[in-house]
Amino acid sequence: MASGVRARHSRPVSTGQSHYFDERPPAGGGPEKVRRVELQGREVEVRTAAGVFSGDRLDPGTAVLLRHAGPLPDEGDLLDLGCGWGPITLAMAAASPRATVWAVDVNARARELTAANARDNGLTNVRVRAPDELDAGATFTAVWSNPPIRIGKDALHALLLAWLPRLAPGGHAELVVQRNLGADSLHRWLEETLTEDLHVSRSASSKGYRVLAVDRDPVDPDPVDPDPVDPADRRA
Ligand SMILES: C[S@@+](CC[C@H](N)C(=O)[O-])C[C@H]1O[C@@H](n2cnc3c(N)ncnc32)[C@H](O)[C@@H]1O
Repeated sequence: MASGVRARHSRPVSTGQSHYFDERPPAGGGPEKVRRVELQGREVEVRTAAGVFSGDRLDPGTAVLLRHAGPLPDEGDLLDLGCGWGPITLAMAAASPRATVWAVDVNARARELTAANARDNGLTNVRVRAPDELDAGATFTAVWSNPPIRIGKDALHALLLAWLPRLAPGGHAELVVQRNLGADSLHRWLEETLTEDLHVSRSASSKGYRVLAVDRDPVDPDPVDPDPVDPADRRA
C-alpha cells in the first residue's frame, strides 16, 4: 500500500476573463481555439479546444486556485494533476522556472494542448505525461490541482489516494473544489483517510469554491531516539 493512506483503506484507492481570438483547423478532435487569459497576473496566449475541460475560458475554480495558492518551491518536481489545456501548469512553470512541472492528464488532447501551450510560451521546464508514464516512485514538493470531481466519488478518491501520498516530506498540495460538488465532505474524507503525517486544511474559500491544502510533515532532522541506551551499555 502506498504510504500516506491509513491502513484501514485497502483499496488503492484574474478573475479569469478569457477572450476568444482565433479558430484553427481541427487537429485530433474538436477545433482548436486561441485565447488570451490572465494567469497570476501574466497575460498569456493559449490554445484550447472543445472536448477538453473548460475549453472556452479559464475555469472559475482554477482562477480561484491561482489567486489563492501559496508560493511554490524554487526547485524540485511539481505536479499539476489533471492538467487540461494547462492553465495551472503554465502558472506553476512561470512562477518557478527552476523547478520541473509535471503535467498529468488521461486525455491525450489535453496533453497535446498543454505541451503546445508550454512551448509557445517558452516554458521549457514543463514535462507532459499520461498518468502511467510517471515513475511510480516519483515524489513532488508541490501539487496543485483542479481535480476531476465529475468522474465520481470512488474514482476521485482512488485518484487522490494514488497521488497525494506522493507528496515529498515538507511538501504542500492545493486542490480547488466547488462547495456544491462536495468540497467539505471531501475535506472530511481526506482527514479521515490520509495518514497522520499528511495534514488537511482549508486554505481559502471564494466564489463558491474551497481550496483544500494538504501538507506533509518535514523529515525530523534530529529525531528523538526511542531507545536511548548507549550502544556500549547494550554490548556489556
Ligand atoms: C477539472 S479538470 C481541470 C483541468 C485544468 N487543470 C484546468 O484547471 O482547467 C480535471 C482534469 O483531470 C483529468 N483527469 C480525469 N481523470 C484523470 C485521471 N485519472 N488522471 C489524471 N487526470 C485525469 C481530466 O481529463 C481533466 O482534464
